[in-house]
Amino acid sequence: MLGLDKVATALVAPGKGILAADESIATMSKRLETAGVTPSADTRRDYRQLLLTTPGLDSWVSGIILCDETLGQDLSDGTPFGEAATALGIMAGIKVDKGVTSLPFSDGGFVTEGLDGLRGRLDAYRERGAVFAKWRAVLNPASLHWRTVHANAHALARYAALCQAAGIVPIVEPEVLMDGSHGIAVCQAATTTVLAAVFGELDAMGVDPRGIVLKPNMIISGTESEDQARPAEVARDTLQVLTATVPPAVPGIAFLSGGQSNEQACANLAAINAQAAAGGTPPWRLTFSFGRALVSDALRAWHGVAASAADAQDKLAANCRRASEASKGPVTAAVGA
Ligand code: 13P
Repeated sequence: MLGLDKVATALVAPGKGILAADESIATMSKRLETAGVTPSADTRRDYRQLLLTTPGLDSWVSGIILCDETLGQDLSDGTPFGEAATALGIMAGIKVDKGVTSLPFSDGGFVTEGLDGLRGRLDAYRERGAVFAKWRAVLNPASLHWRTVHANAHALARYAALCQAAGIVPIVEPEVLMDGSHGIAVCQAATTTVLAAVFGELDAMGVDPRGIVLKPNMIISGTESEDQARPAEVARDTLQVLTATVPPAVPGIAFLSGGQSNEQACANLAAINAQAAAGGTPPWRLTFSFGRALVSDALRAWHGVAASAADAQDKLAANCRRASEASKGPVTAAVGA
């Protein structure tokens, strides 16, 4: 198997990003219901199969993040998901956290759980073909408490160290939420605090920055803010935060979409890459690890009906192609196309 640094670098290869299709059973079931599909292990499997087998997916996507249920399932032809992904030229990843729970004495903050037994689970996931993993911490910028920052940074670092010890590349995802009416400056301040703490803990736990991928939020205005920052402002503030906090040895930064539309997320990613290139060659690749901004259109088009599968796959392909273009540097023509 490739070394951790090689896998991390391949995950953020030029023109490629990561498809996040790792919603928990509960979240995926809700999304299927909203899309008019009866949730079950079979419909969740069929939906993930539709995504993974989209023609040409490997031209835009280096890896796919799956949840425990999907990595344990087979495609309809009997091929296990991990094996199928590898055969399609797409690296298989696994979400290993167990979701969030409230953190005492933190003004309503949350901490992500899942460290207990993780070492053994990682070995089992590697056997099933996973070469990278993901752990998501969730932080509210408007009520950020130092205990929430500390607890989540520590858990992310413990997770990342266990992954590297098991030969698996950790995606480190501290998500500062975009929900709320806060302005972009609040997101910028909170994200700076969070990323500084995360990289401090990663270093303390002995994590090799060359063998991780950072998955942060972009620096954007809260969804309900009246003052929505434009892509140029998002790019400027995002690059300021990353330059201040992320070691140059990290090979790549793959942004989450956080509820942005595909057009908005891609316009912001294109602006981030254009500004980064204007200032010289950035030390890290700047790409995507979107969930909703890639898959929502496909899910809406599918209806759980085999006859709609090709249309749904076309929609996923179009969104992945646009994200890939946005990750390539100063390319603006594809945005909104
Ligand atoms: P979104 O792009 O929908 O935010 O999902 C990314 C993700 O992996 C969340 O953990």
